[in-house]
Amino acid sequence: ETSEMVDPFGRHISYLRVSVTDRCDFRCVYCMAEDMEFLPKRDLLTLEELDRLSSTFIAKGVRKLRLTGGEPLVRKNIMYLIRSLSRHLETGALEELTLTTNGSQLKRFAGELADAGVRRLNVSIDTLDADKFRQITRWGELKKVMEGIDAAQDAGLHVKLNAVALKDFNEDEIPAMIEWAHSRGMDMTLIETMPMGEIDEDRTDRYLPLSQVRRDLSSRWTLTDIPFKTGGPARYVNIAETGGRLGFITPMTHNFCESCNRVRVTCTGTLFMCLGQEDAVDLREPLRASEGNELLAREIDRAISHKPKGHDFVIDRTTRSPSVSRHMSVTGG
Ligand code: GTP
Ligand code: 5AD
Ligand code: SF4
Repeated sequence: ETSEMVDPFGRHISYLRVSVTDRCDFRCVYCMAEDMEFLPKRDLLTLEELDRLSSTFIAKGVRKLRLTGGEPLVRKNIMYLIRSLSRHLETGALEELTLTTNGSQLKRFAGELADAGVRRLNVSIDTLDADKFRQITRWGELKKVMEGIDAAQDAGLHVKLNAVALKDFNEDEIPAMIEWAHSRGMDMTLIETMPMGEIDEDRTDRYLPLSQVRRDLSSRWTLTDIPFKTGGPARYVNIAETGGRLGFITPMTHNFCESCNRVRVTCTGTLFMCLGQEDAVDLREPLRASEGNELLAREIDRAISHKPKGHDFVIDRTTRSPSVSRHMSVTGG
């Protein structure tokens, strides 16, 4: 790793996640409350400002850039930003430009994304049952997401499926989802639910440790640890019977903070050094204060110099309130 951004624990920051909007066209029950209030549009950075901010991070050593939300594809004119950022792929400064999406708008965007140099996409989908899908997203249409995935694969994009493992919701369906993903040549990752922001239910009721899921899957199939790395937090296994890769994202049962390589900025220009901490630094002010990027670069260095060691997420019956008050949709994970 060659990033010039190195934190106090010797971790090189080479991965930036940019949340381009906090809005989403779904309202997943483990992610948001039904009556979520979104930021007023006037607080948003412009697409030009998001470009400048991202480009400053790239100049400082970011090699992988992921756009998130909310839902990134609902941000107005998002292709303008993606096409503009793709210049860094052409110069070789950036190795990967990618997105995490709920897939609802993918049918429309897949071709343009592939043309802009996007190679891989992560699509969130927690069930393959249309009724359950409507229930978990509060009104989402599974069919649209499926058409989006088809379009993405037709455009030559590699799709990874993200599913949050939820007790008494999709627990029984996990093997079928894996079979489906692998039959279509997609990698899949399972995610432990993280206690971020107030939601309408008690997260404890839905928490499913992936250590348990892994045990159950191991009694069904042959799982082999593999050194496959994407720069993200997942640890992958190969499944002999389905012939595909499955990743485990385990913030709760197996903390991966010591190898953290990432930070995230929000659509208002706030830099969060850790997903599971409240610490944040405003970059909008230094971004707007001058036309050059020196001040901004200095603020970034200052922020990296106090990146927390790790998160303090806890989910149990005694700590019902979330570990951090902000919702996942603010930072896009
Ligand atoms: P790949 O590039 O495919 O490895 O993707 P990724 O796992 O880096 O990104 P994605 O957006 O698919 O994230 C999947 C899940 O991992 C989301 O629920 C994120 O919130 C979670 N995640 C990503 N980075 C971190 C992190 O630094 N800490 C924690 N606790 N969770 C993270
Ligand atoms: N814990 C874990 N994952 C979450 N996601 C949203 N909220 C949470 C949460 N509280 C997931 C989405 C998406 C990814 C970016 O984060 O389902 O796959
Ligand atoms: Fe890094 Fe924080 Fe995520 Fe841990 S929780 S991996 S320290 S960003």
